[in-house]
Amino acid sequence: MRLYEICFSPTGGTKKAADILAKELGGEIFSVDLTDSKTDFSGVSLTAEDTAVLAVPSYGGRVPALAVKRIAAIQANGASAVLVCVYGNRAYEDTLVELQDTAKKAGFHILAAVAAVAEHSIAREFAAGRPDEQDRIQLTEFAKSIRAKIAADNASEPAIPGNRPYKKSSGAGMVPKPTKDCTACGICAEQCPAQAIDRADPKKVDSSACISCMRCVAVCPHSARKVNAVMLAAVHAMLKKACAGRKPCELYL
Ligand SMILES: Cc1cc2nc3c(=O)[nH]c(=O)nc-3n(C[C@H](O)[C@H](O)[C@H](O)COP(=O)(O)O)c2cc1C
Ligand code: SF4
Ligand code: SF4
Repeated sequence: MRLYEICFSPTGGTKKAADILAKELGGEIFSVDLTDSKTDFSGVSLTAEDTAVLAVPSYGGRVPALAVKRIAAIQANGASAVLVCVYGNRAYEDTLVELQDTAKKAGFHILAAVAAVAEHSIAREFAAGRPDEQDRIQLTEFAKSIRAKIAADNASEPAIPGNRPYKKSSGAGMVPKPTKDCTACGICAEQCPAQAIDRADPKKVDSSACISCMRCVAVCPHSARKVNAVMLAAVHAMLKKACAGRKPCELYL
């Protein structure tokens, strides 16, 4: 059995949770980065003997459309999937069922599903520092249970919460823009999962292509890419109540 870790993780929170699960599932890990716009994902081919940790963040209670497109291109050929949805302590709504449907269309067999919490990538004070030690312990226990299911040859598909049809997707509509500190180094353009930043002139961004993933804000070495402060304050106010109170990780087996 080969273990794949297939992640769409623009700011690293999703990958942190997936890493904990993959490490405990054991074996050599083959990583596939779904944010890499240069990869041809139709060339990613698994076998029925393989297992994949397939991890995405929740954007407005849905799987980011770009991740859906890239997962759909993978040739899973009956590989088992542990679905992982990582959210910012508000809610993940239909993300796991959409990931379930997308993974099945790509040819995965669904073995388990996990919801985990990571720092909110837009409003970073929510779920700050998560996944933390408490999450690590919980996710490690989940991986042990998944390993036991694999060892018992139990191929049953878990019941996963969420609605079909999925909730309407609502773009965050927050397009980070360069500030006067931008040196036009091009790092953000190189790393933008949606190729929304002009490589020749990184001060230009295609707002219609931007998925508001916040990677450009996270990777800029000069803290020179920012979302509008008034919009950010409005998001903070909107999320304050919904993000209050620690939400636990969940396992569906
Ligand atoms: C555009 C966008 C929409 C989001 N929508 C939600 C949401 O509906 N519910 C929630 O709890 N967190 C939401 N988040 C927070 C992310 O799901 C969370 O921070 C996740 O860990 C980000 O993954 P990453 O660190 O791998 O990029 C959203 C973040 C972004 C950028
Ligand atoms: S990474 Fe920062 S400094 Fe470099 S081009 Fe992007 S915004 Fe400008
Ligand atoms: S420009 Fe938009 S899509 Fe590209 S990294 Fe920044 S927030 Fe993400």
